Order: sequence, then structure tokens, then C-alpha cells
Amino acid sequence: MASEKRLEVVTCTAPVNIAVIKYWGKRDEELILPINSSLSVTLHQDQLKTTTTAAISRDFTEDRIWLNGREEDVGQPRLQACLREIRRLARKRRSDGHEDPLPLSLSYKVHVASVNNFPTAAGLASSAAGYACLAYALARVYGVESDLSEVARRGSGSACRSLYGGFVEWRMGERADGKDSIARQVAPESHWPELRVLILVVSTEKKLTGSTAGMQTSVETSALLRFRAEALVPARMAEMTRCVRERDFQAFGQLTMKDSNQFHATCMDTFPPISYLNDTSRRIIHLVHCFNAHHGQTKVAYTFDAGANAVIFTLDDTVAEFVAAVRHSFPPELNGDKFLKGLPVEPVPLSDELKAALGTDPTPGGIKYIIVTQVGPGPQVLDDPGAHLLGPNGLPKAAA
Ligand code: DP6
Repeated sequence: MASEKRLEVVTCTAPVNIAVIKYWGKRDEELILPINSSLSVTLHQDQLKTTTTAAISRDFTEDRIWLNGREEDVGQPRLQACLREIRRLARKRRSDGHEDPLPLSLSYKVHVASVNNFPTAAGLASSAAGYACLAYALARVYGVESDLSEVARRGSGSACRSLYGGFVEWRMGERADGKDSIARQVAPESHWPELRVLILVVSTEKKLTGSTAGMQTSVETSALLRFRAEALVPARMAEMTRCVRERDFQAFGQLTMKDSNQFHATCMDTFPPISYLNDTSRRIIHLVHCFNAHHGQTKVAYTFDAGANAVIFTLDDTVAEFVAAVRHSFPPELNGDKFLKGLPVEPVPLSDELKAALGTDPTPGGIKYIIVTQVGPGPQVLDDPGAHLLGPNGLPKAAA
């Protein structure tokens, strides 16, 4: 019986998501409630994922957490909020009369170990996948079956969107207690099989202003952000949902680029201003518009979060030509690293016309590498006990 086991352990994985209608700004800092709804695409876990093991045992004397092999302070407020929230839901489930397979588990301390399959140094958003995975793993180990938006959200706002695969909206909600601020799937990962996502890794530097502090200053100082949230985002959410449902790439791509640009405009309208884009980011924006102008239609679209890396959306029939254009404009540095990671891309030659359209001013080494991926599913439970990051003693297994 489960209650006689010394250790209850579960391992899950969760995906990264990229917003096409951006979340920027909170109306409640404590509960992490946003000033506008947002919509994102869940990326495939074959390329980018967090894996988290959670274990509970009556033998543990304190909650502990290890991230990428290093023990971290479990007292961080956001981590504590997630733990409190999951234990509250578990208690509620029990008082609602559900049979509890783990009678004592609520009082047990938890050990958590989490790793990313991509380098944190790449500057890719890892907190969304990380907190979604934490919420999912804790829910499993404590026997919680309710909606986990609130648990993940308390770790990082955008994390609630990583609880589902495909295309996901985070409805801002209206209630002061945040009960209606939840993530919902708009369409599953199978809905738009031709869609591809390319991550152009530009900079490995740590950003100057983190999202949390950045959006706080924006809410305090940017009238443009307030206008965006109140007057523009509601219609944009409806339009983006339509684009996804109808697989209208032209409109999807245009709105994605406009929303990214508007988010960065609100950062510039913040006082003191925040700029996440660098020269390479701006060159990528230019490249995308040249590429589209050459084709007379929107074939690729960019979006940027709180950093210089670009995320590109396109369809499978355009990937090879766009990658050739990127190679032309940003000749890879020959440092032995693979320039293309993820899904395979056939090399194709670039036409002279497209070369001419892109102009002649290559920036060698501007892009470090490209991760080619696609839309993917939500969090998964790994059944293989070999996948656990914690050993039978509840401590991290020695790194292989
Ligand atoms: C630019 O979710 O990282 O990526 O809620 O303070 O943890 P906190 O912020 P976070 O912000 C993400 C901002 C963004 C846009 C988005 O993902 O919607």
C-alpha cells in the first residue's frame, strides 16, 4: 500500500511557451494577476523541456529543492507560494470527501529536483516551464486533481500557460481573489501541424532588467501600457484566437509581430526606459521584413520577450529558405558548435534575387545557433522509474 512506502515519488516534464499576445504588467503582485489576457504557443518538449521529480516522505525533516544539480533556497517567496497553494488544494480535496490514497502525505515534507534540457545560459525563458513542471509534479505527489493555473501562476505568471499543449490563453479574470485568472487551451498541438518555431539564440548575456521588476516599473510609469491593456488587447485576443482557429498564417504572423513590437514600445515608454532588443535583434527584424517583402506576403514572423533572442514562426515549406537567409545574413562562427539544433533542415541554395533583397551587410557570429522546433503537448508524467532525479534516499542521483 502507498501509505506504507517510505517514499512517494513522481517525475514530470513540462514545456516552454512563447506568447504571441504578450503578458506585461500585474494588477496584483502577490497573487500574480495580470492587467491583460495573453495567448501563447506551447513548444515541443523534444527540444525544450524541464524535468522535475517531487518526492514526499515521512522521513524528510524539511522541504528542499535542487535546480540543475545545485541546492537552492526553498524559502524564496514564489516557491513558498506554490507549496502553500498545492497543500491548500490537497487539504480542500480531502475535506471535500475524496478518498485519500496517501493519508498522511499532507504533513510530509517534499524534496524537489529539476533540470532543463537546454542551457539556462542561452537566455531562454525557463521559469515558465520550471514552475509549470513544479505545479504538475507537486499535484501528482500530493494527489491534487483540480486546475493548476493558480499554483503555476504563483511561481511565474506565464507558467500557467505551460500547463497545456498547443495554443493557450491566460484569461486575466476580474475577481480580486484571482479564481477566474486561469489558463485554457484554445487549440491542441495537432491543430496546425505545419507550424514551425525557430529560436535564434542571439545573446548569452544576462539581461539587465528581469521581467518581474521591468513590468512593475512599466505599470507604474507607462500610459501606453495602460492604453494597450485596456483598449487594445481585448480585440487582439479575439483576433489571435480567430487566426489560430482558422490557421490564417498571414494574419497570425502580422499580429504576432505587431504585438511584440507594441510590448517593446511599452518598455521604451517605461521610465526609466527598458530595452531588451539589441542590434542583432533589430537586424533580425529587418531580415524578416525583407524576406516577406521579397515574397509579397507574410511568410515568417518574429517575436521577442524580455531579451534579445528572436523566436520565429513560419510554416514547414519556408523553414529551409529562411534558414539559408539567416546563414547568409549572420554567417556562423566556426567554433565547432552546431549552428542548427533540433528538427532537421535540408540545406537549400539562396536565389540571387533573395540575396539582393536581403542586402549586403552580413554580421558574422551575430546569431550563435538556431533551435528548430514545433508546437507540442503539455506536461507529461514519466512512468519509467529510471527517469527520477531523486534516488531512493530522496537525494539527487549523482550526475551521469
Ligand atoms: C515578456 O511570467 O516571467 O515573456 O509573472 O513576474 O514571473 P512574472 O513574469 P513572467 O513574464 C513574462 C513576460 C513575457 C511575455 C509573456 O510571456 O507573456
